Amino acid sequence: MRIDIVTLFPEIALAPLNESIPRRAQASGIVEIHAHDLRRWAPGKHRKTDDYLCGGGQGMLLKPEPLFAAVEELRQESSVVILSTPQGKPFVQAEARRLATCPHLLFLCGHYEGVDHRVIEEIVDEEISIGDYVLTNGALASAVICDAIVRLLPGALGDERSPEDESFSDPNLLEAPAYTKPVEFRGLHVPDVLLSGHHGEIEKWKESRALERTRANRPDLLGPGTGLRGDTNPLPGGS
Ligand code: ADE
Repeated sequence: MRIDIVTLFPEIALAPLNESIPRRAQASGIVEIHAHDLRRWAPGKHRKTDDYLCGGGQGMLLKPEPLFAAVEELRQESSVVILSTPQGKPFVQAEARRLATCPHLLFLCGHYEGVDHRVIEEIVDEEISIGDYVLTNGALASAVICDAIVRLLPGALGDERSPEDESFSDPNLLEAPAYTKPVEFRGLHVPDVLLSGHHGEIEKWKESRALERTRANRPDLLGPGTGLRGDTNPLPGGS
């Protein structure tokens, strides 16, 4: 896979991707990642990339010319052009899995109040948001999306680990709590069942704790009517 990130802050985009698993994935040729300074495509001596909103309004928008020029230079036939923006579709694990099958991802990072809408109409394939909050710029968001994708590429986690075994493999359930050694720490004990060697009991314990954790932290994942929410009245319209 090849990833290009066009941003006013290439260092912000690259910093998280030059450590740990994404760094190793690059070193072993699983992915090639390039970050580009948007100013490279900005016209004029001052390399101006932003301007005021037509019709008034607060803040500044990224101008269309540099973004169009960047995409025209970097786009390949197989590219998916992604804009990271709080106005985008929510990024979830299933989206990471889908995008991990693409040969080329080209990220455009919003800044200030966003980008001129002609960019979205003409050159962006997908708008993606990493959550319902506003970051200073899209470089950080693009790095988050790339990290989630790169670790799913075949070979990225190493032979011994599989992305299938982790949280959000089941999109409706969080992972169960996990413990390591020492088995007793400051009077806090690892649950006995995990030390019992009884795999059936351990699996049952994990399932029930995963459900408990999901009910407490992400009740939205447990659909109505599944009976998994812990509602007293799980069926819609039921009594
Ligand atoms: N840029 C600023 N905030 C963002 C968000 N929540 N998701 C994606 N891009 C962003």
